Amino acid sequence: MSEQIADVQQAALQAIEHAQTLNELNEVKVQYLGKKGEIQALMSQMRALPKEEKPAFGQMVNDCKETVTEVLEKKQQDLEVQATAAKLEQEKIDVTLPGDTIRIGTTHPLILIQNEIEDLFLGMGYKVAEGPELEQDHYNFELANIPADHPARDMQDTFYIDPTTLLRTHTTAMQMRELEKAHGQTPIKLICPGKVYRRDDDDATHSHQFMQCEGLVVGEHVTLTDLKGTLEFMANKMFGEGRKIRFRPSYFPFTEPSVEVDVSCPFCNGKGCSVCKGSGWIEILGAGMVHPHVLEMNGFDPEKCSGFAFGVGLERVAMLKYGINDIRNFYINDERFLNTFDRFD
Ligand code: PHE
Repeated sequence: MSEQIADVQQAALQAIEHAQTLNELNEVKVQYLGKKGEIQALMSQMRALPKEEKPAFGQMVNDCKETVTEVLEKKQQDLEVQATAAKLEQEKIDVTLPGDTIRIGTTHPLILIQNEIEDLFLGMGYKVAEGPELEQDHYNFELANIPADHPARDMQDTFYIDPTTLLRTHTTAMQMRELEKAHGQTPIKLICPGKVYRRDDDDATHSHQFMQCEGLVVGEHVTLTDLKGTLEFMANKMFGEGRKIRFRPSYFPFTEPSVEVDVSCPFCNGKGCSVCKGSGWIEILGAGMVHPHVLEMNGFDPEKCSGFAFGVGLERVAMLKYGINDIRNFYINDERFLNTFDRFD
C-alpha cells in the first residue's frame, strides 16, 4: 500500500518538476491534488482497509499530499517570478532612444504679413476689426458710394451669390460696417484684414481670392498729411528704415482725393532695378480721404469730422518682402514653399 502512495508522490513530484509554465503546473495540480485527482483517489481507498490500518494509511496519504502541495507551491512561485521577468523583458522600454519628432506646420507667409501689420497698428492704438466674407451689396458697394450702374463696379468683377449677396471684393466693405456701427461717434481707428474675391483669371499676378488689409481713421482734423505720415511709418517698418513714399492722384469712389501709394524700391534703394522696372518706385496700395458722401451716408457730419482710409494687398507686400514672383504660390500649398517660412516664425 505505502508503495502505491510513494509512486503517486514520485510521479507527482516529477510532473511538477517538468512543468514549464503556470498552465502546465495547474494541470498537474488538478491531476494530483484535485477533487478527482490521484491523491484523493488514494484517500478513498481507505474505506476498504481494515480499521487498524486506517490511521497509518491516512497519515501517509496526508504526508504525501502535504509534500506535493508544498513542492507545487514553491514551483508555482518560481514560475510566477519567471513569468513576470519575461513580461518585463518583453515590455522593456529604452528611455534613452530619441523620440519621434512631431512635424508642426509653419505660419503661412500671408499670415506672417497680417500679424506684422496688426502688431504695427495695434502699437499705434488701432483696433483690429473683422467682418463677413459673404457680404451684402449694401456694404460692399452702396455705402461705399458705388451705387448700382456706377461704372466703378467694373473695377471689381464680382462673384454674386444672389442679386444682393456677394463675396466681398474689398475690405472696404468692413470699413462701411464699422462706420455704420459707430453711429456717428468719433474717433475711429481700425484696421480690417481679410480675404477678398474677384472674378479674375488666375495667373502669376492675379488670384480670384486674395487678402487685403484696410485701414480707417475718422476724427476731427484728420488730414492727408496724417495719412502720409502713417503710411510712411508702415513702409519703414515693413520694408526697412529709409523708405520713402509718394502719392500719385488716383480714383476710388469712396475717397476724395484718392491716391495710389508708391514706396521707394527696397531692392535698389530707389536707384532703379528690374523689380521696380527702373523707376525706383513700387506701387503698394490705394488710399485717400474718406469721401464726405460716405461719411454722410454712414451718419457722420463731414463738416465736423474727416477721415482717411487705405487698402493694402497682403500678397503684394509678401511678394515684395520675400521675393516671390508668382502669386499662386500662396494658394497651392506646396510644402517646399511653405516650409521656407519656418525661420520667420
Ligand atoms: N478698396 C480699394 C481696392 O480694393 C483700396 C482702397 C481702400 C482704396 C481704402 C482707398 C481707400 O482697390
